Amino acid sequence: RNTALTPPDIAARKSQTPLVCLTAYTTPVARLVDPHCDIVLVGDSVGMVLHGLPSTLGVTLDMMIMHGKAVQRGLERALMVVDMPFGFYEEGPEQAFRNAARVMAETGCAAVKLEGGQSMAETIAFLTGRGIPVMAHIGLTPQAVNAFGGYRVQGRGKDAQLVIKDAEAGAEAGAFSVVLEKIPEVLARRITECVAIPTIGIGASPACDGQILVVDDMLGLFTAFQTKFAKRYAELGQMAEAAIADYAREVRERRFPAPEHVFKDQSEAVPGGDA
Ligand code: KIV
Ligand code: NA
Repeated sequence: RNTALTPPDIAARKSQTPLVCLTAYTTPVARLVDPHCDIVLVGDSVGMVLHGLPSTLGVTLDMMIMHGKAVQRGLERALMVVDMPFGFYEEGPEQAFRNAARVMAETGCAAVKLEGGQSMAETIAFLTGRGIPVMAHIGLTPQAVNAFGGYRVQGRGKDAQLVIKDAEAGAEAGAFSVVLEKIPEVLARRITECVAIPTIGIGASPACDGQILVVDDMLGLFTAFQTKFAKRYAELGQMAEAAIADYAREVRERRFPAPEHVFKDQSEAVPGGDA
């Protein structure tokens, strides 16, 4: 992928036109989003969105690698970033490097994302100093759901200072960009102004250098959890449900298959067809 965007390309987009980012977990969706996106994230949201897990905590390194490989096959232009899953990097820089190197080698991604700012600064520096570009993720970090006691807005009031420190620590440690999740607009603007790397917002206002959404959320395919920031650009779930109901009814009424779906004993020799 010689024409793919690189982490330095993304870092250079600070304060330029907004970075467009989406998640993808499969080859066909990667092909759909690639021409329109700067970054495609193989998020650990895959656990909830595709595997029916109650949170991201049960996602494994092998799951991330399998989905990363699938996404890689569908990309030409966008930078692919793969999430480090809970429990595979927090022990220390060595564990993080060992597992991130496996993710890079096996998926072909050019960067990984991990959750944490101050707490992960040493790890981010260790990875970036050894050839693994890192995207940081601060504010609401879903892998800390139990520590937070839910998925509430972060950084309100005097908590803002903690999130600013996280942003600064991630940037100073060498992260090439940082995801800001579910924080007030005033804080997102403040962070975007004071760090030199692009901020990618999700539930963090238009004040960021870019935006990211979970693709299944914005397509209306994943509706088990709803949140104010996930604008629905389509209702593909409803369309799929209607199509499945049509199919079920037509089978029960013997209206499907119709004559055009049926093979004859003699070939009909349709050019390029399988008839
Ligand atoms: O896992 C994910 O999809 C993410 C994005 C929402 C930032 O981390
Ligand atoms: Na994630």
